[in-house]
Amino acid sequence: MEAAVVVLRWVQYAASFVLAGGALFALYALPARGPSSAAAMAWPRRVLAGSAAILLLATALGLSAQTAVVAGSLSAALAPATLASVLTDMAMGPASVARGLSAALALGLLLAKRPGTPAWVASSSLGAVATASLAWMGHGAATEGAGSLIHLAADIAHLAAAAVWIGAIVFFLILARLADGTDADGLGAFHDALAGFSGIGSALVAVLLATGLVNSGFLVGMAGLPGLFTTLYGRLLLLKLLVFAAMLVLAAANRFRLTPALRGALDDPDRAAAAVVALRKSLALETGAALAVLALVAWLGRLAPLSSL
Ligand code: HEM
Repeated sequence: MEAAVVVLRWVQYAASFVLAGGALFALYALPARGPSSAAAMAWPRRVLAGSAAILLLATALGLSAQTAVVAGSLSAALAPATLASVLTDMAMGPASVARGLSAALALGLLLAKRPGTPAWVASSSLGAVATASLAWMGHGAATEGAGSLIHLAADIAHLAAAAVWIGAIVFFLILARLADGTDADGLGAFHDALAGFSGIGSALVAVLLATGLVNSGFLVGMAGLPGLFTTLYGRLLLLKLLVFAAMLVLAAANRFRLTPALRGALDDPDRAAAAVVALRKSLALETGAALAVLALVAWLGRLAPLSSL
């Protein structure tokens, strides 16, 4: 059952981040009007509605699995008394309800409303609520006493930065997959979105580093440093930082080499097609690395942190 809890945590991270970060990407990175706008292309609405539906299902299953771990079995977990106590006595209960409701509302809105700015604003806001609620599913809200609010605020900012980055990578990857060397308008919009993201990307890395250090201060601490190499928690965290470093290298290559190469090839369909293929590979690697980071934190959040050992 513990493995199911970890996998469902991972799915909840990924689905929340695509919903929140993808809808936001439709607002700040794609043209508001025209054939390359998120409203004109069919896939953004489908991807967002799909992530909301997956989030709703994973949240319900995740809450049941986590309750089963606490109650000792799935049948005990589904007993009304157990569910009632999880929903009232444990932080993960109300947080899961908030996440499930946000996902259900986002799904309803995306299916009922016409694709466009109001739909993206609503689903990114609901995605933000779902993303913040994840802090009560791991260690972010577990610190007691002085510092508890600092840790919680830093963890929510960490989750928000991760959501904006990962939502953008997934949408960039889909744009790269659909990009066609002969579609000048589409290629232009793709290039502008990439070029426009460079400033945002640097800010996200700065927030992730700063809030990651705050998280590490509470969950590792100076006394826990030796445990980084000798405990499962420590090794998983180090592995996460290694994968994060790989993401930085890929992001830098996109920004300083592959995006300028696309700009220089926009008036030559063959060279543009080759530039798109290179970006597609790099973005696929970056997405894979991002999903690996989420798998590691899905597991980390279930282990005793070094500061408690
Ligand atoms: C691509 C970059 C990164 C992503 C996507 C990312 C994502 C996440 C996520 C989703 C969580 C779980 C938060 C929760 O459930 O409450 C987390 C926790 C954490 N992150 Fe990051 N993070 C990144 C970079 C970093 C960096 C650079 C550091 C260190 C400087 C860091 C240190 C931590 C720590 C210590 C935790 C707490 C783990 C636990 O639950 O015990 N992260 N991260």
